[in-house]
Amino acid sequence: MKARLIAMDRLTGSQFADPMTTDNQHLIIGGTGKTGRRVLDRLTSRGLDVRALSRPEFDWEDPQTWSSAETGADSVYLTYAPEIAFPGAAEVVVEVARRVLDSGTGRLILLSGRGEPEAQRAEDLVVDLATAHGAEWGVARCAFFMQNFNEGVFAESLAAGEFAFPADGVREPFVDVDDVADVVTGLMLGEIPSGRVYELTGPGLLTFAEATAIIAKAAERPIRYTPIALPAFVAELLEAGVPPSYAEALGELFGLVLDGHNEHLADGVRRALGREPRDLVAFARDAAATGCWAGVTAA
Ligand SMILES: NC(=O)c1ccc[n+]([C@@H]2O[C@H](COP(=O)([O-])OP(=O)(O)OC[C@H]3O[C@@H](n4cnc5c(N)ncnc54)[C@H](OP(=O)(O)O)[C@@H]3O)[C@@H](O)[C@H]2O)c1
Repeated sequence: MKARLIAMDRLTGSQFADPMTTDNQHLIIGGTGKTGRRVLDRLTSRGLDVRALSRPEFDWEDPQTWSSAETGADSVYLTYAPEIAFPGAAEVVVEVARRVLDSGTGRLILLSGRGEPEAQRAEDLVVDLATAHGAEWGVARCAFFMQNFNEGVFAESLAAGEFAFPADGVREPFVDVDDVADVVTGLMLGEIPSGRVYELTGPGLLTFAEATAIIAKAAERPIRYTPIALPAFVAELLEAGVPPSYAEALGELFGLVLDGHNEHLADGVRRALGREPRDLVAFARDAAATGCWAGVTAA
């Protein structure tokens, strides 16, 4: 459908004036997140008309704000926060998806986790709904993001030289969020076949100890990884001031994610993009160059 125009002059700059590049409208729910802002960059750098939503305009905890997603955008990238694996996420995600599709969107892309029951439920509900609407759909089902190490919850610990995490010896196929953003952008623009789940992993399985060693080497400083028990991890979160319900939910999530069910590679990046995914060594080299792990000295 012809898009309603929502200008983002600040982001699109002079390219916005080109009538050849403003035919489509794209909407990103979670446009400031790790994947969302990269997809936003990719779309705006191509001169496309894109709108990004997050709080306070759109708040997953406030249904009264959900109408802001009813823009009738040609394509929508839907990322749920804080965690699609948290109990109850599926119902909320599918309600927003319904509003998006009812407003006339023809292509819906969902960011999902890998194998958690609630994430799977959300995928199934969204795919059924999109199909019933006759809309195109795509699912980016992602492994653990590499960028959790420098843009997410672990950045501070790694910068302090001490990383304690309840992963024991489990191996994870960490995926680079830039690969995820490439796939999502391709799906939003119809450049990658829709109607599929793309399971996105990096090229190798690594333990958290191995990942920490790679990061330490790139950062050129010692960083110690200590496997800890789940209750001790939750206790540390509480001590750090994380609200109890969120700390416990994170504990449950990591218990689920790190139970070994993700210890296998998938070929989603190659299927979608025709190239291999980036590995953790390349990610760590580029991230270290920004100084993200250089700041704090461990006590
Ligand atoms: N991290 C991973 O390793 C990983 C792996 C697979 C799947 N995922 C999935 O990715 C999704 C996002 O995770 P992430 O790690 O990428 O998070 P993130 O980088 O912290 O991004 C979260 C995004 O959601 C927005 N947000 C936060 N709370 C919100 C709320 N109450 N209402 C509306 N928007 C809100 C944030 O914007 P504002 O704060 O500006 O509102 C931001 O744009 C989750 O569903 C998760 O299951 C994550």
